[in-house]
Amino acid sequence: MRLIDGKLVAKAIREEIKQKVAEAYELYGKRFSLTVIIAGEDSASQIYVRNKGKACEEVGIISDTVVLPESVSQEEIEKIVTEKVKDENVDGILVQLPLPRHLDEKRILKLIPPEKDVDGFSDSNVGRLTLFSDDALYSCTPHGIIKLLEYYDIPLKGKHAVVIGRSNIVGKPMALMLLKNDCTVTICHSKTENLAEITRTADILVCAVGKKGFVTADMVKDGAVVIDAGINRVDGKIYGDVDFDEVNQKASYITPVPGGVGPMTITMLLYNTYLAGIRKVNK
Ligand code: GUN
Repeated sequence: MRLIDGKLVAKAIREEIKQKVAEAYELYGKRFSLTVIIAGEDSASQIYVRNKGKACEEVGIISDTVVLPESVSQEEIEKIVTEKVKDENVDGILVQLPLPRHLDEKRILKLIPPEKDVDGFSDSNVGRLTLFSDDALYSCTPHGIIKLLEYYDIPLKGKHAVVIGRSNIVGKPMALMLLKNDCTVTICHSKTENLAEITRTADILVCAVGKKGFVTADMVKDGAVVIDAGINRVDGKIYGDVDFDEVNQKASYITPVPGGVGPMTITMLLYNTYLAGIRKVNK
């Protein structure tokens, strides 16, 4: 079994991004910038947002965080997003989710044009991914998983990839990216019958369901590549969706939690911000 070291890969890719950002500054005199908008007091969100800001600075991307109170009105947050959309100096916009419950999240996200949608969540970016267009910005977590597979030279062409989970953020875009990489893809979800029978046929198994220890050894084929996109907080500790101690004895490659997929998400956000910026200067 080989461990897929997300921290190592994230560091290598962040170094590349840092160089590209510096080159763009030399060539165009422009610093790329990311605006993150956060509303409310969700403590996990606050940590994510702080980490995004820090990561930007480390690669030379300007980061601007707009902190709004829990009580912010729909009108106020829409006004701020609209200003950032119009601002020529803003390359990427990210609205941290979840938003306070009284806000209409869909309406707010719809204001962000695909060119600035560095989360890759917008209808247009999902459509572009579905069409395998080269002007898409990809959802960060599944894109990070593709980068991990590439870094370790794991063959994808013709392989059976099984994705457990059909969320808009991970499961669905993951399946599309694996398909784009010539995998034969099966998507499983909470209503799937005979789940273990299907997962046992996976050469590559990606799990994104949000349940600690959901994938057990009996669900995994000998020699499979197992990617754990779960982040489950239990008593202050973080666990993945995969029962690592059991499954690592069968897998050829496996991602740990923490230190596997996690560090790749912000890395791909930095990459998307760079892409958004460089596409704008090259337009
Ligand atoms: N909340 C948890 N993960 C994410 C993410 O990747 N993007 C946004 N916008 N909000 C999140």
